[in-house]
Amino acid sequence: MAATLKVGLIGAGWVTQHHLKGWQALGEKAKVVAIADPSRERAAERAGAFGIPAVFESAEAMLAAGGLDAVDIAAPRAVHTELARLAAGHGLPILCQKPLAPTLAEAEQLVADIGGRVRLMVHENWRFRAYYRQAAAWIREGRIGAVKAVSLTLVTSGTVPDADGHLWALERQPFMRTEARMLVAEVLIHHLDTLRMLLGPLKVEAAALSRTCQDMRGEDGAVIHLSTVDGAGVSVFASFAAYGAPAQQMDRLTVLGDKGTLRLDGPDLSVSGCREEHATFDADATYLGSYAATIAHFVEALRTGAPFETSPEDNLETLRLVEDCYRLSGFETRHRDAA
Ligand SMILES: NC(=O)c1ccc[n+]([C@@H]2O[C@H](COP(=O)([O-])OP(=O)(O)OC[C@H]3O[C@@H](n4cnc5c(N)ncnc54)[C@H](O)[C@@H]3O)[C@@H](O)[C@H]2O)c1
Repeated sequence: MAATLKVGLIGAGWVTQHHLKGWQALGEKAKVVAIADPSRERAAERAGAFGIPAVFESAEAMLAAGGLDAVDIAAPRAVHTELARLAAGHGLPILCQKPLAPTLAEAEQLVADIGGRVRLMVHENWRFRAYYRQAAAWIREGRIGAVKAVSLTLVTSGTVPDADGHLWALERQPFMRTEARMLVAEVLIHHLDTLRMLLGPLKVEAAALSRTCQDMRGEDGAVIHLSTVDGAGVSVFASFAAYGAPAQQMDRLTVLGDKGTLRLDGPDLSVSGCREEHATFDADATYLGSYAATIAHFVEALRTGAPFETSPEDNLETLRLVEDCYRLSGFETRHRDAA
């Protein structure tokens, strides 16, 4: 592998501010040397801010120009599979933002088509948040014993009009208005993935999805019941449409074990049982740090040849949970019929 990994970034939208800080944190190990976005203006703005020497209006043009060792795909989900196939055609390792594809079937087809020809890692950064890494370590060390029951809540007012009539979540990420699959496919995919990291394989037993904000095509509420292989119940209660809740996202997690309890309340993590411990994390640094840690993992695994934690095979397990939420809830069928 080259001493400095030369990376082409595909997409210059909202999330790339965090990607680019993550790449910068790697110093000489990796550099983003080119960026491509049909919006030349957005690409040029990111290039200017982060010192990226080459700007392209398409990924095709960027890859044809050559000189890259890897690509980082941060374009909308609808184009992930075509961009991944394009990069695979050039023999380049790929880091691709979640969701790998709009549906499980499309993701499975992509993984089968790539078939190990190039290395592919899904950018699933939530599980790299420092408090979830600490929680995973405590569970692994047996600090709470066998897991018996789990509750995760994410309740915000992101799609409730504020005093000025603004919908905070939709102003922050306007594409959330038009995605047919929103809360689960876009946001809770992270939580389902993180719960898998913490608890092992999961099964969706039931899901109820709802839409409160009529400015959106997809769902902004979800109540999901899952189970672990040992039969522990896992409940996920989430809404972006909760009046009186803060606009910003904050995870709350309780894991009850037969020897202790693990609690996450925003950036505060604690474990109780035979030995109590508490840690408070800096929320902003943890958020940004999760992108940097994901990118660092990609680069390190390329260097050493070690498997990616969020390999395509691993990520398909998360996508299966996402797909099951839509299937079991009947949300899409109901809304298609109503349309
Ligand atoms: N991991 C996270 O926490 C997280 C957070 C936000 C977004 N995301 C994911 O990142 C991806 C992008 O999200 P965003 O918020 O930046 O969206 P965005 O709408 O702000 O930006 C998308 C950008 O991609 C560009 N684009 C469209 N088609 C393209 C193509 N074929 N080639 C190159 N660029 C193309 C658009 O012009 C736009 O600039 C999505 O998959 C989203 O789910 C992940």
